Amino acid sequence: MILLDGKALSQKIKEEIKHKSKELKTKGIEPCLAVILVGTDPASETYVNNKAKACELCGIKSLVYKLDESTTQNELLALINTLNYDDSVDGILVQLPLPKHINKNLILESIASSKDVDGFHPINVGYLNLGLESGFLPCTPLGVMKLLKSYDIKIEGLDCVVIGASNIVGRPMATLLLNADASVSVCHIKTRDLNFYTQKADLIISATGCAHLLKADMVKEGVIVVDVGITRIGNSLVGDVDFKEVSKKASYITPVPGGVGPMTIAMLLENTIKSAKNRLSNFATF
Ligand code: GUN
Repeated sequence: MILLDGKALSQKIKEEIKHKSKELKTKGIEPCLAVILVGTDPASETYVNNKAKACELCGIKSLVYKLDESTTQNELLALINTLNYDDSVDGILVQLPLPKHINKNLILESIASSKDVDGFHPINVGYLNLGLESGFLPCTPLGVMKLLKSYDIKIEGLDCVVIGASNIVGRPMATLLLNADASVSVCHIKTRDLNFYTQKADLIISATGCAHLLKADMVKEGVIVVDVGITRIGNSLVGDVDFKEVSKKASYITPVPGGVGPMTIAMLLENTIKSAKNRLSNFATF
C-alpha cells in the first residue's frame, strides 16, 4: 500500500507558487485573492483563515472580508461588484455555505468568471463539462487529479466510483475523471446499493462527510482510494473511509488529514496565480 501524501506534494507546489509570485511582482503584478466570509460558522472561519495564511506564506496578497451574519444579499452583491472592477484583485472566493437568506447561485453567478478561482461560476462549469481548459477548475477535484498524477496513476480506462454529487466536489470530480477517459459512476444519498458500485471499482473517491462510510468488505483488492471527507469526532478528524481496514486492501490511499485537504488550498493558490498571469497578458495587449 502506498500513501498518497497530499501534504508533501502541496508543500512542493507552494514552493513553486512562491517563485511564480516573485516573478510576477518583478513584472509589476502582485497576485491578490479576496476571500469573503458571511457569518461566524467556526469551520468556515478556520478554512478562511487557513486560505489567507497560505496566501501570505506564498507571496499572494490576501484580502479577507468577514461580514456579519445579517449582511443582506444586496450588500454582498455590492462588495463583489466592487472587487470585480478592482484591477488589483485576481481572485474572488465567497466561502460556502452562505446564510439561508442569501441566494447562493445568484452570488456565485455575480462573481466575474475571470476571477472565479473556485471554479463555481456557470461559465467555468460549462468549460469543464466541454472538456476545455480555458476556465478555472474547482480546487478539490483538481487537487485530487494532481495528486493521482504525481504518483503516475493512469486514469484512462479505469472503473471509477465517486460517492457524493455536490457541485463543489462530486460532480466536477466525476467530470474530470470522464474527461480523462475513465468510466465513471456517481453514487449519492439515494443510491440503493452502494456496494454494487464500490466492489467493482478500480478507483473510489468519497466526498460525503459520513465518517467511516467505506468499509473493507465494500472494496476489491488493489483498489485506489481517495478520501475527501472530513468529520470532526471529539478532537480528531476522521474521513469517509475506514482507513485502518481499507488500507490493508488498497494499492494507494489518502490519509485524513494530510491527503486531499492540503491539495485544495494549493490549487486555490495556483488558480490565483493563473488569474494574475492572465492580468499580466491583458496588460501586454495594451
Ligand atoms: N466550502 C467548502 N468547500 C469550499 C470551497 O472549495 N470553496 C468555497 N468557496 N466554499 C467552500
